[in-house]
Amino acid sequence: MKDLTPDRSSLDPIEIASRDEICALQLKRMQWTLAHAYDNVPFYKKSFDSANVHPQDLKSLDDISRFPFTVKSDLRDNYPFGMFAVPQEQIIRVHASSGTTGKPTVVGYTQQDIENWAALVARSMRASGTRPGDLVHVAYGYGLFTGGLGAHYGAEKLGCTVVPVSGGMTERQVTLIQDFKPKTIMVTPSYLLSILDAFRAQGLDPRESSLEVGIFGAEPWTNAMREEIEQAFDMHATDIYGLSEVMGPGVASECVETKDGPTIWEDHFYPEVINPQTGTPVADGEAGELVFTSLTKEGFPIIRYRTRDLTRLLPGTARSMRRMEKITGRSDDMIILRGVNVFPTQIEEQLMKIEALAPHFQIELTRENRLDVMTINTEAADTGISKEAGTDAGNNLAQLIKEVIGITAIVNVAASGSVPRSQGKAVRTIDKREI
Ligand code: DLL
Repeated sequence: MKDLTPDRSSLDPIEIASRDEICALQLKRMQWTLAHAYDNVPFYKKSFDSANVHPQDLKSLDDISRFPFTVKSDLRDNYPFGMFAVPQEQIIRVHASSGTTGKPTVVGYTQQDIENWAALVARSMRASGTRPGDLVHVAYGYGLFTGGLGAHYGAEKLGCTVVPVSGGMTERQVTLIQDFKPKTIMVTPSYLLSILDAFRAQGLDPRESSLEVGIFGAEPWTNAMREEIEQAFDMHATDIYGLSEVMGPGVASECVETKDGPTIWEDHFYPEVINPQTGTPVADGEAGELVFTSLTKEGFPIIRYRTRDLTRLLPGTARSMRRMEKITGRSDDMIILRGVNVFPTQIEEQLMKIEALAPHFQIELTRENRLDVMTINTEAADTGISKEAGTDAGNNLAQLIKEVIGITAIVNVAASGSVPRSQGKAVRTIDKREI
């Protein structure tokens, strides 16, 4: 793989500014954001008033911890446009997250918000090793989901040629990659695996493809998966993080020269990590729930939003801004199996160690005789593999899971293609236990 480290002169100066400069900018922008939210969104006025805090109380960045959290149900309660801080005619775009239950959460952007977002995705793409003039294949879904359009505007802003493929029609994805020869692909890691299958099914060697950079996000994926993808395609795989409530993709993104967790674009978002039980902020380096306050958003300012994503804050390396550790899971995805907490990423990590198994999996939870049972449905890596070899590989995985995670799981190695393939965010767990 080529060294794609961007030239320092091509970076936004703030990416490598001093910590003092970054913090001074954050404070100024945080004061503006709190006042903007308080003055223009009745929800924030009410919530600040009832917590007995006022935007003017924020004298230092740490004072943010005196302000109340915002949670997803607050957005639902103000559905659809109640959290907007500008008149609707100044909102030039809305996005929404589907949400598994009830109403979607709707977010809105002014012209300036869209420009900032594009600039941050462009910055993220540059960090991944993508350059102006490169061809970019966007296979994130277009529509209410922020992935497709977020990537699209960022790629244009960086000066790339965008191929807006969206998700789905997997064989055609391969044809377009073969014919157009993109350097960069932006896609969920699980959908990339479906594209990988399609390459192989067409008898093509993915290592011979034009792809040099993959920018993967929208769902958790492990470093073991990174290795698998980098090997399979002979390309750099970097992690992009974001959520619609805070903006969309590009809240944080990994630098190709270090690949050590996404750098948080701290000039636009102020991160905290809290103890999810008590709500108290924890020190950098300690694990907990990630919380964000937007610093520049006009249409939809967001104060101390609880993401439910679990990570820790780490010092800057390739940039002056802090990093977050690769997300291990969301608190919503945590499986409690006979009292042990397990995340699907832990299963993924073990699965990747077994070469005879494909990287596809789905976890099924059932209850038998009042005991929880976890079944992992996966596949043999190679269609030519014997039934016995498949069973052995499954037993090896069950043993690794027992040793490393400490739980008993049934591993079912099924025929190739039987684990449902993702076209966007993978569904990792099917919970069939009655509540
Ligand atoms: O998934 C935005 C996005 C699109 C990010 C494309 C990256 C690439 P939502 O649909 O609102 O927005 O879902 C946000 O997805 O809270 C995380 O739980 C998860 N997520 C997003 N990026 C990552 C990542 C988009 N890199 C939710 N690693 C977030 C792990 C991620 N989880």
